[in-house]
Amino acid sequence: MSNELLFDLKNIEKRFVRGRESISIFDGLNITIKKGTFVSIMGPSGSGKTTLLNMLGGVDRPTSGEILFEGQAIQNLGEGELAKWRARHVGFIFQFYNLMPMLNAEKNVELPLLLKNLSKAQRNKSVETALKLVGLSDRARHLPKELSGGQQQRVAIARAIVSDPDLLLCDEPTGDLDRTTATEILETLQLLNKEFGKTIVMVTHDPVAASFANVSLHLDKGQFIEQQSSEAVA
Ligand SMILES: Nc1ncnc2c1ncn2[C@@H]1O[C@H](COP(=O)(O)OP(=O)(O)OP(=O)(O)O)[C@@H](O)[C@H]1O
Ligand SMILES: [Mg+2]
Repeated sequence: MSNELLFDLKNIEKRFVRGRESISIFDGLNITIKKGTFVSIMGPSGSGKTTLLNMLGGVDRPTSGEILFEGQAIQNLGEGELAKWRARHVGFIFQFYNLMPMLNAEKNVELPLLLKNLSKAQRNKSVETALKLVGLSDRARHLPKELSGGQQQRVAIARAIVSDPDLLLCDEPTGDLDRTTATEILETLQLLNKEFGKTIVMVTHDPVAASFANVSLHLDKGQFIEQQSSEAVA
């Protein structure tokens, strides 16, 4: 883990306005995330965990405040620039995998690469590497419905890492999996963190899953409390 900051969030305010109603989710949130950390985020339902991941990943913007990524304020980027920034730096992993049902594993993994200017051969090579890393080389031609939940999540991880982003944002990545399968997925995330230096921010309700991270944050009433800071436990 380096001491360099990947994220520096300053005085983040987030309000959702619906009709005449305005809900304040964050009001003066400050957090920093160091490069190469595996951070877990726990907190009650509705506390703003997904909202925070969306802001970190540049799919939602704060109402005010600054999100500095490697010193650059991403909340001021235009839509096109933000999309480019996202494609280069961020991989998303969701609870229900969000795979395209009509595409096989390798086609799903290839999707993020279609936004880039790469040859078919380059794309194939990256897809093969990503599927190998998650241990699914032998399932490349399977459709999502022909894969187990754990295997579908592996495809989703391969899709998230195929363009080699610095950051993986995971929203309840093991929420739909049994304990054994969840452990395998968490070990894969740990490997991506330790061996490949990916910074990981993972939302989870499960304290066992959170223990795989090396920083555990608890979100409560719009503020974070750091619970522990130790080397990851496997
Ligand atoms: N687009 C939106 N418009 C209006 N309100 C929203 C919007 N998105 C989220 N909210 C509200 O913001 C709050 C935080 O939502 P968020 O999805 O971030 O919670 P969460 O911590 O991820 O919860 P869970 O653990 O249930 O997934 C909720 O009260 C939700 O209703
Ligand atoms: Mg959520």
